[in-house]
Amino acid sequence: MTAPLIAVLGSINMDLVTTTDRRPDPGETVLGRGFAMVPGGKGANQAIAASRAGGLVLFLGAIGTDVFGPQLRAVLTASGVDTTGLRTLDGPSGVASIVVDSAGENSIVVVGGANAELTGLGAADRTAIAAADILLCQLEIPIPTIEEAVRHARDNGTVVMLNPSPAQRLSEELWGLVDVAVVNRGEAEELGGTLDRVPHLVVTLGADGARHRGPDGAETAVTGPAVEVVDTTGAGDTFAGALAVRWSRGPAEALRFACAAGALATTVLGASAAIPSRAEIETALSAAPGSASG
Ligand code: RIB
Repeated sequence: MTAPLIAVLGSINMDLVTTTDRRPDPGETVLGRGFAMVPGGKGANQAIAASRAGGLVLFLGAIGTDVFGPQLRAVLTASGVDTTGLRTLDGPSGVASIVVDSAGENSIVVVGGANAELTGLGAADRTAIAAADILLCQLEIPIPTIEEAVRHARDNGTVVMLNPSPAQRLSEELWGLVDVAVVNRGEAEELGGTLDRVPHLVVTLGADGARHRGPDGAETAVTGPAVEVVDTTGAGDTFAGALAVRWSRGPAEALRFACAAGALATTVLGASAAIPSRAEIETALSAAPGSASG
């Protein structure tokens, strides 16, 4: 089977990760256990996940002219992602301050930097989107740029997969152009009935796996392998990237593959550092195939 061509439009950040036993309450100071800088950003994580899982991936995004820019570009290149659509814009790159507690749960604050300046598509971006099998987007760059890309994808028969994270209000028009929405439990609750109009809805359920609802209303639920959780940062992104790679094989197989990828991503600290390869995902699946029902 030929590898799918996936265009990922989205953010790329340097993640400033602090580990601590317990995340602080408002106004409280707690002592940390460690600190690391790890490339991340929902867009970059999804691009790296899709590439490591076997897709041919092109990333459309922006880095800044600060010290983080070259490091962020390098992690994409090292993962086999095509960075010809990665712009360098004057000013800082995106950064995310992340606190991870001993249960592996996190709190994240993102400052957009160059991501927030990613306005409009160039001719090469439009060509790449038109040529792709799937356009994969999230919501950490300006919404008008996402709308432009999604319209162009639909006009050219490219499947639109949207991970509406961080959740925010989107136009009726945009929702009407989405083929596949990938959300977590909290986003599903927040978006509620808005998601009813999307033909394919995929909801990730953490340790409980994921479920899919298709255009005919039929549901499929899938479980993933049990793992020792270190850090959940980027697990949803890894799921989305892997899902895009296997989407053409049908929801049950795509979800099983994506659940295994997402589970493995929680076993290592840091977003991009934790993203598994296709071989690692397949090994995990043969050890614990998971189950599909529905
Ligand atoms: O989804 C995880 C990502 O969210 C982090 O890598 C951080 O950069 C933020 O974008």
